[in-house]
Amino acid sequence: MTSPLHAGTAARLSRSRSCARIPAVAKQLFGPSLPVMLRSALLNVMIKAAQKAARALKRDFGEVEHLQVSLKGPANFVSAADHRAEQTLREELERARPGYSFLGEEGGRYEGTDKTHCWIVDPLDGTLNFLHSIPHFAISIALAREGAIVAGIVYNPVTDELFTAERGKGAFLNDRRIRVASRKRLADSVIACALPHPSRGDAALARQEHSTVQERVAGLRRFGAAALDLAWVAAGRVDGYWERGLAPWDMAAGIALVREAGGFVTDLSGREIALTSDSILAGNELLHRDLLRLLGPSARPAAAAAG
Ligand code: IPD
Ligand code: CA
Ligand code: CA
Repeated sequence: MTSPLHAGTAARLSRSRSCARIPAVAKQLFGPSLPVMLRSALLNVMIKAAQKAARALKRDFGEVEHLQVSLKGPANFVSAADHRAEQTLREELERARPGYSFLGEEGGRYEGTDKTHCWIVDPLDGTLNFLHSIPHFAISIALAREGAIVAGIVYNPVTDELFTAERGKGAFLNDRRIRVASRKRLADSVIACALPHPSRGDAALARQEHSTVQERVAGLRRFGAAALDLAWVAAGRVDGYWERGLAPWDMAAGIALVREAGGFVTDLSGREIALTSDSILAGNELLHRDLLRLLGPSARPAAAAAG
């Protein structure tokens, strides 16, 4: 039986199934590579902005050792490339949709004349990877309408992998439809997670959670870019993912991807995910449920009772 928590996702899934026929028909007409023009105007705006910012990020990645970096906090560096990318994204998105509000990791919130729409942007997710020349980082852009996420894209400029999703229209990796993995048993699953810096308050809890999950799964992975962790859940590369202490720009686009790929995404209390949630848990229906049992309030009754 579908729980009330998951009813919305089931409805979205059935809507997205019927929409999936459109690319299938187009594929018959145009062959394996779908023409980009089939994407909505909204996605095209987001993709164009990401591609422009990505060109500079890619150049900077090639010269990463020459970048001027400043220390923002333990294990949290911010680079000149990061700021430049956010500036480019903001200009491009503003040009295409004047008046929309904007929430970016580097520049904070800007109230536009249109308060119902807000871009949520992480110009460089996976900063530490970037600074260490590890080619696993992404630009993440989501659009929220009246607080609900309606579209999201995550783009890794190095691999040229573009993950896109729009509410009710499915999730895609480049031009290919993606779905969450269908594995049923934790024992067969690869789960992505975070490894918070020891200076963070929740580091001990994270260690506890790692050992709880590690004992039950085929493999645990820490990749270092939350937006890509969620995109990889959507693409079925990893079976699940959890993290605490995220900001809206880390997860907004990824939430759209997981939902549209037929996955379940909540916070670690099992509540519907919101932009204000400070934790996230994603996977297919069964693995999400099993992980919630291991990581949710029922696994830590004392902490739950203390609030
Ligand atoms: C970080 C990455 C990392 C996650 C951190 C985020 P940043 O974002 O997504 O994977 O574990 O919680 O802050 O700083 O690279 O944009
Ligand atoms: Ca981030
Ligand atoms: Ca960032």
